[in-house]
Amino acid sequence: MTMTATDTHGQGLAQSETIRSAIESIVREVQDRSAGITDIRPPVAELRQSYDAFMKRAGELRGRALYYPYIGSGIGNGALVELMDGSVKWDLISGIGVQFFGHSDPELIQASLEGSLGDTLSFGQLQFNEDFDRFGRTLLELAQRGSRMGHCFLTTSGAMANENAIKVCYQKHAPASRVLAFRDCFMGRTVTMCQIGDTPSYRVGVPLSTLVDYMPFWDEIAARGMGPTRFIDAAVALLTQYFERYPKQHACFIFELVQGEGGFNTAPRDYFKALMECCKSHGVAVWDDEIQTFGRTDRMFAYEALDLGSYVDVLCVGKMTQVCAALWTKDYNPQPGLLSGTFSGTGPGFRAGTRVLERLRDGGYYGENGLIARHFRAFTDLTRALAARHPDWFPSIGAPGLPDVVGGRGGMMRFSPYGGNKDKIIRLCHVLFEEGVIAFYCGHGPYHVRMLPPLGVFNERDWPRVFAVIERAMARVAAETR
Ligand SMILES: Cc1ncc(COP(=O)(O)O)c(C=O)c1O
Repeated sequence: MTMTATDTHGQGLAQSETIRSAIESIVREVQDRSAGITDIRPPVAELRQSYDAFMKRAGELRGRALYYPYIGSGIGNGALVELMDGSVKWDLISGIGVQFFGHSDPELIQASLEGSLGDTLSFGQLQFNEDFDRFGRTLLELAQRGSRMGHCFLTTSGAMANENAIKVCYQKHAPASRVLAFRDCFMGRTVTMCQIGDTPSYRVGVPLSTLVDYMPFWDEIAARGMGPTRFIDAAVALLTQYFERYPKQHACFIFELVQGEGGFNTAPRDYFKALMECCKSHGVAVWDDEIQTFGRTDRMFAYEALDLGSYVDVLCVGKMTQVCAALWTKDYNPQPGLLSGTFSGTGPGFRAGTRVLERLRDGGYYGENGLIARHFRAFTDLTRALAARHPDWFPSIGAPGLPDVVGGRGGMMRFSPYGGNKDKIIRLCHVLFEEGVIAFYCGHGPYHVRMLPPLGVFNERDWPRVFAVIERAMARVAAETR
C-alpha cells in the first residue's frame, strides 16, 4: 500500500481492502448460521445435564442463582435467541432494553469488528480515538434537535451517567444538597442512586446520606376522580411547599418521563410541564433520566414525545446506545476535576453505539405511524383480544373502564393479568421463559409483565406467534392455581 505524507498509518489500516473483505466474510458466515434459527424450540435433552451443571456453577460464582436459567450460546436471529441448552426463545426483554437490534445483527457485528481494530480495546477520558468523539457528537446532535444540550460526557453504565449528572446539578446549585424524585422511580444501583430510587429492598443496609423529597407520580384514577387540573395544582402546591420548607436547598428534580422499573407509568405533558415550570421558577435543575426511555417512545427522546425539551437542563441516556452518557446545557458545564474516569467505553461499543444512533435516526421508527407506534398498537390489540377471550385471567386492577390490562408507551410495553398480583406475575414470567418467551416484570403493586422488545428487528407479523406462547403459558398458570 502506498501512503502520502498526510496519511496516517491508522487511515491506512481503516482503508485496508484485506481487512474489509475479511470482515465481510465473518459477517456473512454469522448471517448464514443465524438464518438457521427460525422459530422457538425446547431444550435439547442431551444438553440438559451439562447445562444444569453450568447454571449451578454460574450461580455459585455470583453467590446467587440466576433469575432465569439463561446462558446464551452466542448466536440468535433478530428477536430469537439460542441458549446453551439448545433452546430458542423470543427475547422480548432484550437485556432490559439493551439489544434493540436483537441477536446476531449483521450491521452491529460489522461495526463491532471495525471497532475492535483500534490499538486498544478500552478508552478513558484521558486518551481516546476518533470513535469516542464520533459517538458523542452524533448523540449530542440528535439531542440538540429538541433540547438545549451543549455537552456530552460518556461513561460505561446508566448509574455512572446518573452519578455524573447529579454531581453536575450539585455543583451548579451548591450548596443545595437535596434532590426531588418521583414515587416509584429507579435510578440505578450505586450508593447514591439506590437511595434516590424508591425501592426500599434495593438499599437494605446502605447508610442513608442523600436527602430526597418524593413527589407523587401521575395517578390516573385519582386524577379522574378529582379532575386533572386539581391533581396538577395539588402536586404543584406540594412541590412549592418543599421549596418553602427547604429554601434554596434543592439541586435538582429527577424526571423519568415513562417510569421503567416503577411500572411503565407515564403522565400527560401538562403534569410534567407544571412541575418543570415550578422548578425553573425556583432555580432547580430539571434532570431527565432517559436511560430506559431513550429510543423507545414514539420519538427518539421521551422529552420530544412530550414536547418538554426546552425545560431539560441535564439528560442521561444508556442501554440501547451501548455507551452511556450524561448531557447538559452550556450553563451547567462543571468546573475541571468534577468528572473523569478510567473507562469511558470500548472501541466496539462506540462503533456499534454510533450505528445504533444512525439507524434509529434513519429507520422510520418514530412518529404517529412510525414502526414503534405500530408495534405498540399491535401489542395492545392482541392483549385486549387475549383479555376478551379469558376475562378470568384479567380481573380489573383499577376503577371500571380504566385501561388497566395493557399499558406503557411505544417500545415499553406492559400487560397486567391477575389483578397485578406479584407472585402470580412472577410465576407467569418463569412459565413464559419455559414456553419460549423471555419477559420480565415491573411495578410496585400493581405488578405487570414487562416487555422491552427488540423492535429494531422484530417483525410486526410475529406478534401473533408470541401471543400464542403467552396464551399457552397463561393457561398453564391458570391450571396450576385452579
Ligand atoms: C431509568 C433508569 N435509570 C438508571 C438505570 C441504571 O442503569 P444501569 O443499570 O446501566 O446502571 C436504569 C436501569 O435499568 C434505568 O432504567
